[in-house]
Amino acid sequence: MLTIESLTVRLGHRTVVDALSASFRPGEISLVLGHNGAGKSTLLRTLAGLVRPASGRITFGDTDLTRRAAGDVARAGVVLVPQGRGVFADLTVAENIRLAMWNTCRLGRATGGEVEERLASARELFPVLDEAWHSLAGSLSGGQQQQVAIARAFLANPRVLLLDEPSVGLSPKLADAVLATVATLRRGDRTIILVEQNVHQALAVADSVSVMRAGGMAEHDLAPEDVADRDLADIF
Ligand SMILES: Nc1ncnc2c1ncn2[C@@H]1O[C@H](COP(=O)(O)OP(=O)(O)OP(=O)(O)O)[C@@H](O)[C@H]1O
Ligand SMILES: [Mg+2]
Repeated sequence: MLTIESLTVRLGHRTVVDALSASFRPGEISLVLGHNGAGKSTLLRTLAGLVRPASGRITFGDTDLTRRAAGDVARAGVVLVPQGRGVFADLTVAENIRLAMWNTCRLGRATGGEVEERLASARELFPVLDEAWHSLAGSLSGGQQQQVAIARAFLANPRVLLLDEPSVGLSPKLADAVLATVATLRRGDRTIILVEQNVHQALAVADSVSVMRAGGMAEHDLAPEDVADRDLADIF
C-alpha cells in the first residue's frame, strides 16, 4: 500500500498540495482526476522524490519515502512517466531504451539478464520498439513517443508506476491504445497511479477513482462505475 498522510507541498509562495491524504492499493489502477492546476503533477512529482514536501508523510509498505532523494525513491521501485512524455528526442528509440535498461541495472532494480528478458516482453507489449527501433524518438508520432516513455518505465520493473496524462494530445483511438497498454501493466502487486483528463476512456481501465481539487483530495477511492454516471462538471 502506498500511503500519503497530510502531505503539503509549497512551490514559491503557493501551497500547491494542501494537507492531502490518500492511499493506493497494489494490483490496481488508481485514477486521479482534477482540473488544470489542481496539483496532480505536483503530487506525482512529490511521490517520485523530485519535489520536497513541506510536511506530511509518504510511505510504501514499511518504507518511509518522505523527503528521500529521487534516486532512492527510484531504487525502491517508484517510477514516474512525466507529463509531456520526456523521451530524449535527439536519441533513437534504441538509445532511449538502452539508457532506461542501464539505469534500471544501476539502480539495482534488475540484473543485466533480467533486463534483457524484460526487453523481450517490452517488444511484445510496445510495437513501436520493432517498428521504429532506429528512428529518432523526436520523429515519432505522439502515440509512439508515449509508448517509448511507458516502455522505458516498464523496463525499470516498477512497483509503483506514476503516469501523468499519458493520453494527452492523442486521437481518441491512440488514447485508447495507450490506456489499453497501461491496463496490461496492472500485474501482480504493482501499484499504478494514473492521472488523466480523458475521463471516460480512463474510467474504462481504472479500478478506483480520486478527485483532486485545489491541492486536496476532494473525493477518494470511488468506484469507476459510480463516477461514469456523474456529470463531469460535478466531478471537477
Ligand atoms: N515551480 C512552480 N512555482 C510556483 N507555482 C507552481 C510551480 N509549478 C506549478 N505551480 C502551480 O501549481 C499549481 C498546480 O500545478 P500542477 O502542474 O501540479 O497542476 P496539474 O493538476 O498537474 O495541472 P494540469 O492538469 O494543467 O497538468 C498550478 O497553479 C501551477 O501554476
Ligand atoms: Mg499536470
